Amino acid sequence: MCGIIGYTGPLEARDLLLNGLAGLEYRGYDSAGIAYFNTASQVRIIKNVGKVAALRECVKKTAEVSHCGIGHTRWATHGGVTDKNAHPHRAGQVTLIHNGIIENYHQLTEEYGLGDKLVSQTDSEVAAWVLDAVYRDCRHDPLAAIGAFVKKLAGSYGFCILFDDRPGEIYAVRNVSPLVAAYTRSGAIIASDLTALISYTKEYFVVPEGHIVRLTPYKVRVYDMDYNRIEPEMLEVSWNMDAAMKNGFPHFMLKEIHEQPEALRNTILPRLAGNLPDFTADGIPDELFLDCNQIRIIACGTAMHAGIVAKALMEPLLRIPVTVSIASEFRYEDPLVDGKTLAIVISQSGETIDTLAAMRLAQSLGAPVLSIVNVKGSTIARESDHVFYTHAGPEIAVASTKAYSVQLAALYMLCCRMALTRGRCTKAQAGQFMEDLLAVIPAMEAMIGQSDHIRSFVRHLIRERDTFFIGRGLDYAFSLEGALKLKEISYIHAEAYAAGELKHGTIALIYDNVPVIAIATQDHVFAKTISNVREVKARGAYVILLAKEQAQLEDGVADMELRIPDLEDRFTVFPIAVALQLIAYYASIGKNLDVDQPRNLAKSVTVE
Ligand code: F6R
Repeated sequence: MCGIIGYTGPLEARDLLLNGLAGLEYRGYDSAGIAYFNTASQVRIIKNVGKVAALRECVKKTAEVSHCGIGHTRWATHGGVTDKNAHPHRAGQVTLIHNGIIENYHQLTEEYGLGDKLVSQTDSEVAAWVLDAVYRDCRHDPLAAIGAFVKKLAGSYGFCILFDDRPGEIYAVRNVSPLVAAYTRSGAIIASDLTALISYTKEYFVVPEGHIVRLTPYKVRVYDMDYNRIEPEMLEVSWNMDAAMKNGFPHFMLKEIHEQPEALRNTILPRLAGNLPDFTADGIPDELFLDCNQIRIIACGTAMHAGIVAKALMEPLLRIPVTVSIASEFRYEDPLVDGKTLAIVISQSGETIDTLAAMRLAQSLGAPVLSIVNVKGSTIARESDHVFYTHAGPEIAVASTKAYSVQLAALYMLCCRMALTRGRCTKAQAGQFMEDLLAVIPAMEAMIGQSDHIRSFVRHLIRERDTFFIGRGLDYAFSLEGALKLKEISYIHAEAYAAGELKHGTIALIYDNVPVIAIATQDHVFAKTISNVREVKARGAYVILLAKEQAQLEDGVADMELRIPDLEDRFTVFPIAVALQLIAYYASIGKNLDVDQPRNLAKSVTVE
């Protein structure tokens, strides 16, 4: 959630930290700060509420030079959005930044008698004081102090630490919260996210959990908790800096919507052998699909919505129960999972804490886990039994777009392979399925080509306080994501309903001119959905109808229409997703909001 960066080396550290933080701002953005050693080897802290641009202005007012420092963008969890609660936090000889939550901070406050010392309301400052005490107890041995310090903590953390008497050095340790690091020709660098490293290196490593990292201008060293040096596994970034830039688009979200056809190609094509899906290179064996008698899909938010689409696709084809669980609920519902359950865990970031905890629970109950993850080397990817990496490239906008469509593509491919393996379809049918899947790519391009038409819908949307999305079957599954997208970036109250369910209560909310976005792309329920459209229209709703090119519509059934290419029913989600994303995007623009960094949200939710 929070963004973290640390640097030591020959370059001007303050500039490097500020540039890195600007790239990490999407992870959290209510306040920002840096701490650095100045040329007199004293630690200086500059931090304030607001975005990184505001911090940059403050930093400009001091003319200091530095070659070692740490920086942080905050997404508040403990304590309000104030300058004092912003990171870095300082305690005695220790200055640190923290991503995560220290769950036992109350006990630690009492144990260390910190009540009068604390100047902020954060758990992170408590951690800083504890480390300072331990550092003194360990006679200023950083490794011993950090080893003893983490034994006292419960919760999740990624810390970067400066000790007053260790100028030029940065120490780091993590549990759950992500950290990646690299030694480059320009010095040593550590961050919560690859986007901060990519300008300096393509080679990096994921900081192993429960290990301590020491960065100096000359090297990066990793130690286990017995203080033995270990060699981390080096990884290579598979995308370049362009992928993390706006490249002429006004917002990351719009750029990422446009990148979807390419992201699908990158995800699907390398996994085709002839015209059939093949996961040999992913190391995903067919036995995984044969040995199960139920599928549990576990995820949060948009990723969970991809799971709901997959359930509607998989159950009729595979004829085994498929259950979709919100990860934060799964954890506490005593789930029915055993060795015959295939758990499919979906996460763009691979770091969402609820999804990770749910995955660990499924594993402890004996289920093999197949994860669908976009970020290479992330915790979920590393801990799951098998990984299907989506190749969307970095997703920077907080609202997920391209990650959703590649998650769907992954699920469609897995479903096809499973059906083939389990004898639920022939090779010819599987080949046709994959052909239909590839046909969604030009259909998505066609939707992007209709951007201006889609933009014309939002004039009406942004005048009203609510919007309803309705559909049946798969169309209902798509609606859920459309409503989420609109809510999170336009702040318009939006709800998705199964169209047939409306008259059991929700239709009471329909008033004159309320926008209803009706999705009617499923032939077998098309007529039924249109009846429901008439019901809301008769009660004054302003209807925007999304239907296939070939659908016969009577005049006046809707106020506005958007036609999508004539795909086989199961595949219409892809162009519909683009349309719904564009509706949300233009609604946000129409309301003059911060599209890429909507209020209260953060990318990569590493707190429960
Ligand atoms: C919404 C959105 C979130 C994420 C959710 C899970 O646009 O991005 O709902 O989908 O927080 O995140 P990951 O996929 O990283 O586990």
